[in-house]
Amino acid sequence: MIERRHLAPPIGRVVATEQKPATPHQFHFWTANETSIGIGAIVRVEEAGNGKGETGKVVYGVVTDGFAYSDLATPLHDVVGAEGDPAKAAASPTVRQEIRLWTAAVLRQTPEEPLQPVPLGEVHVASDVDVAQALRMDAYLGGAQPTAIPVGLYTSGGLEAPVYVDADFLLGPEAAHLNISGVSGLATKTSAVEFLLASIFQHFPPHKGRVAAVCFNVKGPDLCFLDRPGPLQEEDRRRYERLGVEPAPFRRVRYYAPFKADGVNLNTLRTHPDLVGDVEPLVWGLREVLDYAEVLLNRDDIDAKADAFIDFLADRVVDKEFEDGFGGVHRVVTFADLERLFRSIFDGLELASRGGDSWRTHHIATMRKVRNRLANISTRCKGLVTDDGPSNDLPWGRFDDRTVYVVDVANVDPLGQDLVFARVVSQLRERLERRDLGVDAVVVFVDELNKYAPADGPETYVKKMLLDISERGRYLGLVLFGAEQFRSQVHRRVVGNAGTVVFGRMDADELATPGYQVLSPATKIKLATLPIGELMVRHPHFTQPIFVRFPRPAVLRGRDGVERYPPAADLPFDEAVARQLVKLDRRVRPNQVKDLIADRREDDVRRALAHTRQTRPHDALAHFKKQLGGRVAAVPAAARESVAPLNPISDEPY
Ligand SMILES: Nc1ncnc2c1ncn2[C@@H]1O[C@H](COP(=O)(O)OP(=O)(O)OP(=O)(O)O)[C@@H](O)[C@H]1O
Ligand SMILES: [Mg+2]
Repeated sequence: MIERRHLAPPIGRVVATEQKPATPHQFHFWTANETSIGIGAIVRVEEAGNGKGETGKVVYGVVTDGFAYSDLATPLHDVVGAEGDPAKAAASPTVRQEIRLWTAAVLRQTPEEPLQPVPLGEVHVASDVDVAQALRMDAYLGGAQPTAIPVGLYTSGGLEAPVYVDADFLLGPEAAHLNISGVSGLATKTSAVEFLLASIFQHFPPHKGRVAAVCFNVKGPDLCFLDRPGPLQEEDRRRYERLGVEPAPFRRVRYYAPFKADGVNLNTLRTHPDLVGDVEPLVWGLREVLDYAEVLLNRDDIDAKADAFIDFLADRVVDKEFEDGFGGVHRVVTFADLERLFRSIFDGLELASRGGDSWRTHHIATMRKVRNRLANISTRCKGLVTDDGPSNDLPWGRFDDRTVYVVDVANVDPLGQDLVFARVVSQLRERLERRDLGVDAVVVFVDELNKYAPADGPETYVKKMLLDISERGRYLGLVLFGAEQFRSQVHRRVVGNAGTVVFGRMDADELATPGYQVLSPATKIKLATLPIGELMVRHPHFTQPIFVRFPRPAVLRGRDGVERYPPAADLPFDEAVARQLVKLDRRVRPNQVKDLIADRREDDVRRALAHTRQTRPHDALAHFKKQLGGRVAAVPAAARESVAPLNPISDEPY
């Protein structure tokens, strides 16, 4: 400390008066009128030694407010002195004494005990080392197992110091989750999360194991090009270097998107022929849907009877030999099989002489309701949910280290989005609990969090689940990164449980809401005018929020991506099928496929394709042909017709 004092002259001095005393958590200091200090600057206060070789206290603080005034008692004195003419005021023969006074909040005192008011010492601008000390980063930057993750550069008066967050407090187990808010376009929320994910992948401490990210793409092409490099400026590259992060796009990204209603064209904007090859279809069948059927029910009603019936179906019927009580034996695997069972139950009840209205304790009305809801999802989310045929899912149990799994639900019906969230997050949770996901920690990025966990509105399944991650995820390594424009519109317990909170440029109205009372007026103004690329970070180790700058993410922005790789127009059915088979097996000739399916029912073709995709045979065309042929032969035309699509707008009473 002593050395430093001789190296750099102080830039200010702590003042304390009866009106404005120094306390253990706040102090005031003055500087010259010309100074590099501004709101958010970190300073170091040094108490003078006692002359016997002992150094005094060192206090670190962050500037939260600034004042300028002169020795005038009231504005009237100035007016009178200038005889009411502003031009004369400047020509006044004596220059008035002026002061720059700053208020700073204490970040850290050394020694920490006894905790005393800030001494009236010299004020210095902070160096790299000081910033690390002030933010208590020394605890996790060094040592045998450092856990520091670069988040941005603290920048003030020509000094740039890297700021790190602690992986134990960002990704668990000590604390977890991150929330970022700020106005559209200027707050750089999505970009900040992209940068931070890159930083996490490069700096996640080896002793913490393997890490992956699951990102839900909920808006246009936002996250569709994470594996493509984007343009960076010299300034960005310099920042990357200073932060020790390599400016490169993500090496391993897997894309998942449901089909469109036609069941063969993918419902995503990543359909450019050069890129669509690595988009995997997300297709779920009856089993996958039934496990999360609660999502479908409690959107507008909570019904214990319907729940019980769904449980019955899931536990006793699906994938088992099941006798319907009217002489029929069923093996229900698909929606179509289930519909057959329903029909036979309803027909059976109708024919039964007693004319009963319940079956195995379930009321016919409950059964009709469940049937309608399930039919509803298979119609509204056609393309995600198949009536028939095998499903295609994320690689549960085989998640790869440092890999991003993008699940594109941007164009999916809200009901389908809920289903995707519910199933993906629940699977992550269960697998992490059993420790058989393939990685030890997963960051789940949910953009537009206000839509999925709103502050008000009904308690949906998805909201309950997001609350559950927020409250319990950190023990499991299930970490939620959420972004929204207005923090006040997101459920309190979801944002409240985020250990790390980031703000980009904020809306002034939002800053006037009660959640921001702890911020000083000057900090609020800074937030409301924050330039692009600058963020305010709150983290458990930092006593006060800190402003940092981060470089542009090194990936292609969504809207540049769709320009460079324009999405392909939807292909006609036969071409889309051919293309998918070619993807599975390069030897397949599109014309062979087209001839093969020319007079086949689309449903049968989709089923055969799904089966081929699931089996991944050596010879895709032969397998496909076999599936197609076998299926047609096995199901006579009359029987096929009887399996009519489920009708969601049925007016059956409940
Ligand atoms: N570090 C940075 N420095 C400079 N510009 C940046 C930086 N990060 C992002 N940008 C630019 O800021 C713009 C907005 O970024 P982004 O899309 O991340 O904002 P957003 O807060 O997610 O917006 P929205 O609420 O509309 O989703 C982008 O055009 C991006 O190129
Ligand atoms: Mg965004």
